[in-house]
Amino acid sequence: MSIQSENIEKLVDRRVKARLGGGQKRIEAQHAKGKKTARERLELLLDPGSFEEFDMFMHHRCTNFGMEKDHPDGDGVVTGCGTIDGRLVYVFAQDFTVNGGSLSKTMSEKITKIQDMAVRNGAPCIGLNDSGGARIQEGIDALAGYAEIFERNILASGVVPQISGIFGPCAGGAVYSPALTDFTLMVKNTSYMFLTGPAVVKSVTGEEVSQEELGGASVHASKSGVAHFATASEEEGIKTIKKLLSYIPQNNMETAPEKPTTDPINRVDDALNSIVPDNPNKAYDMYAVIKSIVDDGDFFEIHKDFAKNIIVGFAHMNGKSVGIVANQPNVLAGVLDINASRKAARFVRFCDAFNIPLVTLVDVPGFLPGTQQEYGAIITNGAKLLYAYGEATVPKVTVTLRKGYGGAHIVMSCKQLRGDINYAWPSAQIAVMGADGAVNILYAKDMKEDPENAAKIFDEKKAEYEELFSNPYQAAQKGYVDDVIEPRNTRFRVIRALESLAGKRQEIPAKKHDNLPL
Ligand code: HXC
Repeated sequence: MSIQSENIEKLVDRRVKARLGGGQKRIEAQHAKGKKTARERLELLLDPGSFEEFDMFMHHRCTNFGMEKDHPDGDGVVTGCGTIDGRLVYVFAQDFTVNGGSLSKTMSEKITKIQDMAVRNGAPCIGLNDSGGARIQEGIDALAGYAEIFERNILASGVVPQISGIFGPCAGGAVYSPALTDFTLMVKNTSYMFLTGPAVVKSVTGEEVSQEELGGASVHASKSGVAHFATASEEEGIKTIKKLLSYIPQNNMETAPEKPTTDPINRVDDALNSIVPDNPNKAYDMYAVIKSIVDDGDFFEIHKDFAKNIIVGFAHMNGKSVGIVANQPNVLAGVLDINASRKAARFVRFCDAFNIPLVTLVDVPGFLPGTQQEYGAIITNGAKLLYAYGEATVPKVTVTLRKGYGGAHIVMSCKQLRGDINYAWPSAQIAVMGADGAVNILYAKDMKEDPENAAKIFDEKKAEYEELFSNPYQAAQKGYVDDVIEPRNTRFRVIRALESLAGKRQEIPAKKHDNLPL
């Protein structure tokens, strides 16, 4: 055999060995836990044959605790680029079969290289996490590695989309990389995220809690909001990441890809004319409205199980990607609370950073009252949503379906807070508050002084208030809404509004950065 043939054979052998990561036994152990390996995950994620791997032969440089005896090629992470639906992405997948995917300095160098390339080349960065955290044997080097990854997460924020998939453990400070990215997806029963595990919790607070109860996918998707998605399997998780990407652009200088549709833009839906119940205290399902107006009824929801009183997600309208934000009258009457405000604010900021127009569907009775909300800083949290809408310069089309009361009306992309085109349905009631509350405040004294006629006073004044405010026409008379539209035409009117805003240019004053109410 020639020297060159030998060299090539050696390369092929090294590649085969590197692809085995921590070895066959550990791969089997990974499978036995119902988990895929890093490479299997990337194979599912990327278009076939598109993966371009980097740094397959990098080694850790640790010599503590006998580490010098074992140098698996590539260390504990697989990195590179590839395509998803033909679009370039940068990826890293932590390999649990190598030292439990624990983060070494070498691994951080591989990951930061990918992050830098993603920013330089304007493509999303996707990280699949499955790691025991900082590599204990490396001490401070591992911590330095995390800090370098976090730095890239911060600098890339708002420049290229960053997506984190949690496919196994993600504990300690390691959780902060996903938390800094735009979207976090977790897999039920096989992944968890927490700052301190059950053992530490027990020793510090005495509380007994399982891993799943403390930081499982369902907990983070429904209670903390840390996870935007919780999927039943890794396969479903990877499909979800791909679908998410289909709505978002490659970077902040581009627009999202279009999805051609045969759904007519002027499709009317008569059902919308009667969807709002006559009784203002009765609920209806906002999902029905969303599905009716978007292309092919296809709505991709974010944070589905968290703060269900507000709905956020992506859809296409006339083939173009839009971000939908909608109050959900079916849950807590669609009231805004701390979690709903945080959820929607984050989504609005993502859409604004990545040139995705916003469509806001309003039916909001106000902010949730009470000590729990006030002590939890509903003031600051509500201000986040207000701020997010106010600073957003993407096209914003708002439709008020029914209630638009008080501060919540202003928060939900009203005309005076830089809403571009604001419509109202004939059922809209845009006012400081509902009729009952208003009469009880304005006429409390009169009703108290004349208790026999209190009911009559109440009814009369309520009728007067309703005549004045329980309709969209006061707002329309003053130009606070641009038009009152027939509900069945909403799809057409919103699409036409969005088309008219396609060339929108709006600046915010130059500044180092803003100081949104965190
Ligand atoms: C080095 C590690 C490791 C780590 C796991 N391993 N975590 N090696 N550093 N952090 C190794 C194990 O020794 C084992 O090696 C292999 O990975 C698989 O681990 P197992 O324990 O056998 O797997 P499993 O039973 O599935 O348990 C997984 C685990 C557990 C729950 C993640 O390994 C664990 O608790 N690890 C420690 C987690 C931790 O406390 N990390 C530090 C967090 S603090 P062998 O050779 O036997 O296969 C942190 C700070 C970050 O990360 C700060 C950022 C700012």
